[in-house]
Amino acid sequence: MQASIDIKSLYSDYVKTLETYIMFRIKQEMTRLTPELKAKNRAPINLSIGAPTQAPPEYVINALKNCLNEQGIHSYSVPKGEMFFCEAVAERMKKRFGVEVDPKTEVFSLVGSKEGLAHMFRCLINPTLNEQEQENEFALQTGKAGFSVLTPASQQDIIMIPDPGYASYKEQIKVSGGKAYSIPLNYDNNFMPDMKDLMKKLESEGFSPSKVKAIVINYPNNPLGATSTREYLKSIVDFCRERNILLISDAAYCDMYFGDQEAPASILEFEGAKDIAIEFHSLSKPYSMTGWRMGWACGNKDAVDILGKLKSTVDTGVFKAIQKAAAEILVSEEGDEYIKQANQLYQRKQEILAKGFKELGWDIDNLIIPKATFYLWLPVPPRFNNCEEFCQKLMEVSGVVAVPGTGFGDYGEGFFRLSIVAEDDDLYKVIERMKEDGFIWG
Ligand SMILES: Cc1ncc(COP(=O)(O)O)c(C=O)c1O
Repeated sequence: MQASIDIKSLYSDYVKTLETYIMFRIKQEMTRLTPELKAKNRAPINLSIGAPTQAPPEYVINALKNCLNEQGIHSYSVPKGEMFFCEAVAERMKKRFGVEVDPKTEVFSLVGSKEGLAHMFRCLINPTLNEQEQENEFALQTGKAGFSVLTPASQQDIIMIPDPGYASYKEQIKVSGGKAYSIPLNYDNNFMPDMKDLMKKLESEGFSPSKVKAIVINYPNNPLGATSTREYLKSIVDFCRERNILLISDAAYCDMYFGDQEAPASILEFEGAKDIAIEFHSLSKPYSMTGWRMGWACGNKDAVDILGKLKSTVDTGVFKAIQKAAAEILVSEEGDEYIKQANQLYQRKQEILAKGFKELGWDIDNLIIPKATFYLWLPVPPRFNNCEEFCQKLMEVSGVVAVPGTGFGDYGEGFFRLSIVAEDDDLYKVIERMKEDGFIWG
């Protein structure tokens, strides 16, 4: 007799709690609406995803082409990355931040920093399921597809993450069986909350500070563009050292700044950081190389070592030709020049949109508009009930695709994010359409 087939019942308890990644959900909705939007001359302008649209540097493309016939280039690399790549990373860290990292023990290649972060979290979390998960409640109520592991939320390993923050952190932590605890970033704390106060809040909510395994910081921040002072970074290093908490610095946007913004620091610049911190870097945004999937982790050698051990069971490193081209661009004048020009472009695009939103009635002069990343984080007009409703209307009526603030955490309510990488013409069109369709402040 054949058993009744239910593939979903085979999923792990952790995976059952996963939500479809917000950017893909938005894309699906955009695709669904496209015919109707085109018919009313409102073809979608997608300002949702944070992916530069211009070509990568010519230099890196040529470097890739030139090495494709080299002996051995097509065979397996090693998870750690080829030594020429790790040495180029060390040279880059020295030149850009004045930081020394040992290419042998303190650097590890990544298949993009998203992958590296996910595996770092897995290295820290003892998998447990929170009995308060919605799906679990559903299971308990209905008796269907129940979870086998039930743990009070207070017993879970905790990783503290910026909120608003990169949408992947929370899901990556959840699927590893941990608890993502929000570090609220807002106007009141100037996006740099006091960690001691936050730890007290965590304790007052019934969680144990001893369960906090790591703190994630991300300056410049996605989605806010917020940067940090050097004093604040130093205070977090000290805080983590005092409490034996791993400090995970996500530096994906460290090269994206403009105007009078001081160059963002690496966490490894601060005294004692190497005792407690690991930093994640990416070639995706600064060189418009999102599809290449190339990044690195560097810093504390125990953290690098355990990340490498786990990764070695999962992947076998990045295509050697990509590592070679990446190594060349990281230490080249051409790469630095490309980043400079791209940042000037983003500054111009930010000015176009800031001016446009001012015309639409947003109080731009009293908002914090950071000069970093390629995102614009703006408040939702008060007549809308929430950010989801505003973004849905904006897409349905005007074909302008933005991300609701809550996609980046609960503290994102009341705001939306625009990725300003589109062509200038499209940015002007966004403002024009919003004017015509009545998306004005109020
Ligand atoms: C803050 C932040 N970290 C990490 C990543 C991942 O970048 P990648 O995996 O392309 O290196 C992103 C991508 O949007 C991001 O915004």
